[in-house]
Amino acid sequence: MARRTKIYEGKAKTLYEGPEPDTLVQYFKDDATAFNAEKKAVIDGKGVLNNRLSEYFMVGLEQIGVPTHFLKRLNMREQLIRRVEIIPLEVIVRNFAAGSFSKRMGIEEGTPMPRPIVEFSYKDDSLGDPLVPEEYVIAFGWASQQELDDIVALALRVNDFLSGVMYGVGIKLVDFKIELGRVYDGDFMRLVVADEISPDSCRLWDIETGRKLDKDVFRQDLGDLADAYTEVATRLGVMPSNV
Ligand code: C5P
Repeated sequence: MARRTKIYEGKAKTLYEGPEPDTLVQYFKDDATAFNAEKKAVIDGKGVLNNRLSEYFMVGLEQIGVPTHFLKRLNMREQLIRRVEIIPLEVIVRNFAAGSFSKRMGIEEGTPMPRPIVEFSYKDDSLGDPLVPEEYVIAFGWASQQELDDIVALALRVNDFLSGVMYGVGIKLVDFKIELGRVYDGDFMRLVVADEISPDSCRLWDIETGRKLDKDVFRQDLGDLADAYTEVATRLGVMPSNV
């Protein structure tokens, strides 16, 4: 097979040119980073788990009518995706207080939100992805007002879907981050869920015990990250060995 042309290397994934002009190949690495890459490690098998889990969530979203960039999984570590124009925002939905929200607001981790909160960070590693108000998003032209309304609606649909799926296997969806992209079809533009949805980008707590099953295990040195992700994959019935 011809060597793939690398077009972007991120902290946890690498993107290559795909077989068609409007496609890319997304490769999931085993690298784990936290605190804007101040903490780093290689976690054997993480890329395989996240590839499979992200496929599972993206396919489920498509099945309920939420468009995504996902086309098909190619192998244990790679998936074929649509080439999209990435909106430079991290869209975070919070159901319970945790992480940077708890720190910023002084609200104890696990406190339920009055309603799901949607917030935006500007995607810029050198700035540490700062939290930005909607005003900035519009004023700096990162998205239009209409797109922003659509992004919030989409993020809340993803939240309902993921919360339900996780609840079904005894896991509380505390919060998550998604990224959105634009796909153009002639004059028509639509928003799609892009990047990945995995325990790297969600907070997942066991409902019974409160055990953390997400990247906080790595951030907070709570144990073996691959074990936690394997637990999520096993409960969802998507262990890599089942593919
Ligand atoms: O750190 P914070 O509490 O703001 O994170 C909220 C959610 O967004 C968490 O699930 C976290 O894993 C995710 N996140 C992410 N990538 C970032 C920042 C946050 O996936 N750069």
